[in-house]
Amino acid sequence: MRTVYWESEQLHMIDQRLLPETLTIVSYRTHAEVAQAITGMVVRGAPAIGAAAAFGLALAGYESRAHTTPDLLTDYQAAAASLKAARPTAVNLAWAVDRLTKEAASNAHLPADALRAHILQAAQLLADEDVKINQRMAAHGASLIDDGDTIIHHCNTGALATVDWGTALGVIRTAWEQGKKIHVLVDETRPRLQGARLTAWELQQYGIPYDIISDNMSGHFMRTGQVQKVLFGADRITANGDVANKIGTYMLALAASDNDLPAYSVAPTSTVDLALAHGSLIPIEERSSQEVLDIQLAGERVTPRGAQARNPAFDVTPHRLITAIVTENGVAYPPYTISLPKLVNHKA
Ligand code: MRU
Repeated sequence: MRTVYWESEQLHMIDQRLLPETLTIVSYRTHAEVAQAITGMVVRGAPAIGAAAAFGLALAGYESRAHTTPDLLTDYQAAAASLKAARPTAVNLAWAVDRLTKEAASNAHLPADALRAHILQAAQLLADEDVKINQRMAAHGASLIDDGDTIIHHCNTGALATVDWGTALGVIRTAWEQGKKIHVLVDETRPRLQGARLTAWELQQYGIPYDIISDNMSGHFMRTGQVQKVLFGADRITANGDVANKIGTYMLALAASDNDLPAYSVAPTSTVDLALAHGSLIPIEERSSQEVLDIQLAGERVTPRGAQARNPAFDVTPHRLITAIVTENGVAYPPYTISLPKLVNHKA
């Protein structure tokens, strides 16, 4: 089953807020609902929100009452702005929306109804491509995994974070299918617990052995020689190879470096933002403090009522801590200012 798919004139998505207890599909008919679903994390993970936004733009076309193509293009522009504002850090969201608005602008010769159908087809193509890209990326990444590896994995980068298959977790899945015996240490990934809830759920479906660890245990497992590799995805990679990813990635990469372990970021080239020179330029989403504060232990509230909290959803790992970046076009090694543009501009 795909995480994000179009059927019967609606966008359908797995509601990721309810996993692992309940697998529920939610359906949307308007771009505003889709933007809200992205902000509220019904759908999350950089490539998945890109695909959802692409279908959101297609929905905007069908919502629009425009009879003429110029009026329809204006409505696409307005919808694009609201979809792009849904979450700021993952560049795949803006990338997907920009790809479709450019497609619309360059097909301005079509009558309005034909353009609506064309934009829906373009969204479908983007979603189909995502799956193929992930499988190519996984094949490149699996060559870096050895039989017997124990891998620390951060956040959720699996089928749920994409249209299907996944990025870093897709690498693990492919290596496992190649017969490599792998064990995964799943960072629980506070505060929203994408690792404990979603990655553990996916690994269970695939039959890959794992243990959940709390985020503060990873240094211990590395220092005691119980880990061979560290894998994570990315929400935006800048021209110099700095990687914005789920909060906690930076500390994980620091510990990996201190223990001479490779730290691999796995991401499609649509996550690479060559327009930004370095990671300090990446906008970091700050989410509600309630995500940090609403925590219970044995059914009891943990934090004092009225407590304050900070909640940056992402951090930036400097390129010096990233051993390699795995993309669908191959593996980039430092210096990234040379290797990344080659992979991004690579023609299949
Ligand atoms: O806040 P989320 O759950 O959308 O964050 C997701 C991540 O940070 C993933 O690691 C990232 O999107 C890359 S995986 C496809």
